[in-house]
Amino acid sequence: MTDSSDREREFTFTRQHFVKVRDELYDYAGIVLADHKQDMAYNRLVRRLRELKIDNFDEYLRYLDGHPAEFTQFINALTTNLTAFFRERHHFDFIKDQILPDLDKQGTRRLRGWSAGCSLGEEPYSMAMTILDADTDVSGWDIKILATDIDSKVLGSAQSGIYTMDRIKTLPTALVHRWFLKGKGSNTGSVKVRKELQNMISFNYLNLMQDWPIQGPLDYIFCRNVMIYFDQATQAKLLDKMADLLKPDGYLFVGHSEALARHASRFELVGKTIYRKVGA
Ligand SMILES: C[S@@+](CC[C@H](N)C(=O)[O-])C[C@H]1O[C@@H](n2cnc3c(N)ncnc32)[C@H](O)[C@@H]1O
Repeated sequence: MTDSSDREREFTFTRQHFVKVRDELYDYAGIVLADHKQDMAYNRLVRRLRELKIDNFDEYLRYLDGHPAEFTQFINALTTNLTAFFRERHHFDFIKDQILPDLDKQGTRRLRGWSAGCSLGEEPYSMAMTILDADTDVSGWDIKILATDIDSKVLGSAQSGIYTMDRIKTLPTALVHRWFLKGKGSNTGSVKVRKELQNMISFNYLNLMQDWPIQGPLDYIFCRNVMIYFDQATQAKLLDKMADLLKPDGYLFVGHSEALARHASRFELVGKTIYRKVGA
């Protein structure tokens, strides 16, 4: 069956093609592709067909089954990676004003944070800048930020720490001077984060649907604008695993449109989209 938009398409993309794409994505990544995302799926995948010089979706989907490397590209193509430095600034203020002073008082001098679904890296680098710029003196502390994503392409980019100027245009000038190096010659127009920030972060591939080889307990987890793509059952499972990884009183930060209300038995709301683990 072809629908009206299909007639304008370069390649035929039937309901059966969409269902196969939707099921593969859900089974591997937990991402739910609603029916109205059919055009999006087509537009994202058509680039893969062109790249591979494959001229129909039947052949592409057969190719996908037999080629694990293409499966990686398939996943990368279908993830949504929208992010920004200091997105939802109040989360970073909470690290600065609450988490660091509390740890300082406790005298632990150890901090473990996780950016789950770190995309292009702006989120973990914003954490690192926040920690190093805070009033709390963290010199000599054992600090590790884990940054993970299912999309290998964004992870590579995150690890490089290189950004175009437009990604930092809303940041205060003093912060830019302190933490970014301007590209010269062929790199004009881009910036690179300072090594000091990169040294605090480990970037790793991690599919939230699979095992989490993470050493806890963690002080906080950012899982922002990621669970929004998952169904309720998946969200409930992940929240439980996150609670297990957090230390007692550890914090979970979620995206602006994500509410834990239905699954929050192990968390209490302590700020705007900021939750604290309850119990051990
Ligand atoms: C919209 S971005 C959010 C980035 C950042 N957390 C923020 O809020 O700015 C969502 C990220 O979640 C990642 N993601 C989606 N499904 C995932 C999964 N099953 N495991 C790990 N990461 C996943 C995507 O690749 C994408 O980079």
